[in-house]
Amino acid sequence: MTPTTLQAALAGVGYLADDALAMALALGDMLGRPVLLEGEAGVGKTEVAKALAEARGARLIRLQCYEGLDAAQALYEWNYQRQLLAIRAREGENPDAVEELVLSERYLLKRPLLEAITQAEPPVLLIDEIDRADEAFEAYLLEVLSDFQVTVPELGTIRATARPFVVLTSNGTRELSDALRRRCLYAHVDYPDAEREAAIVRLKQPGLAESAALRLVEAVAAVRTLPLGKRPGISETIDWAAGAAALEARGVAWPDALKRALGLLVKDEEDLATVARSDILAALA
Ligand SMILES: Nc1ncnc2c1ncn2[C@@H]1O[C@H](COP(=O)(O)OP(=O)(O)OP(=O)(O)O)[C@@H](O)[C@H]1O
Ligand SMILES: [Mg+2]
Repeated sequence: MTPTTLQAALAGVGYLADDALAMALALGDMLGRPVLLEGEAGVGKTEVAKALAEARGARLIRLQCYEGLDAAQALYEWNYQRQLLAIRAREGENPDAVEELVLSERYLLKRPLLEAITQAEPPVLLIDEIDRADEAFEAYLLEVLSDFQVTVPELGTIRATARPFVVLTSNGTRELSDALRRRCLYAHVDYPDAEREAAIVRLKQPGLAESAALRLVEAVAAVRTLPLGKRPGISETIDWAAGAAALEARGVAWPDALKRALGLLVKDEEDLATVARSDILAALA
């Protein structure tokens, strides 16, 4: 897929990607390389992997990373209970045959990484928030990402039947290893410009007039420049528009509806006070 056709395919499933992001994803696809997306919370990193899977008609397999994530949760684990049951049911039988049986793939619990490389059709593998996992975990990941294979000591090496399209996301809470970065194509995902954010809002809130959407996203952009604890992401923009539209439908005038629905955009007491002190809301009137 060229960047342009990819961009159109993503738009077809409701994701408006900018040129740089579409280029990184198209290149990742052409070269069969993982794509690492870094950016602040709520800029659309997770969503683009979902949209990509939908646009390609592929299965989405997601590995949500967290502190302490280990191989048993990410790669595979033996299903001890079923193994034990099988062993009990075959008491008295040839022990070698029983051992061979319970150490076969049937008794393996596939976790996302193994699941992703054993699909008949190439899936999209989303490794979400890799910066939350420990550095040690990156070592397992590197084996999978470089060779698309997983070694199970008792079984041997399982090679990919179809190469997944891998998307990694990071909020940049810690530095990722050079080895990981080297394997990936990189794109920084930023807040969209006003025109694109307005288009996103209107996609999700079709009743909103273009001029109203533009003024709303300009206010959001101004809010993002304030020294806030948590800057609003795109979902907050969409929620704010939806909340204000719901109030307007019940008779509240538009600028006032925006002010009243502010709790959908900014979700912290101090941040709310910071926004109130600015002249952003007054400018909406
Ligand atoms: N380009 C886009 N087109 C359409 N919708 C978008 C776009 N970007 C973001 N969104 C919307 O914003 C929401 C938030 O995006 P998403 O959850 O992907 O952010 P994120 O970058 O993964 O944030 P976090 O770091 O908090 O996980 C999505 O559910 C989607 O509705
Ligand atoms: Mg996310």
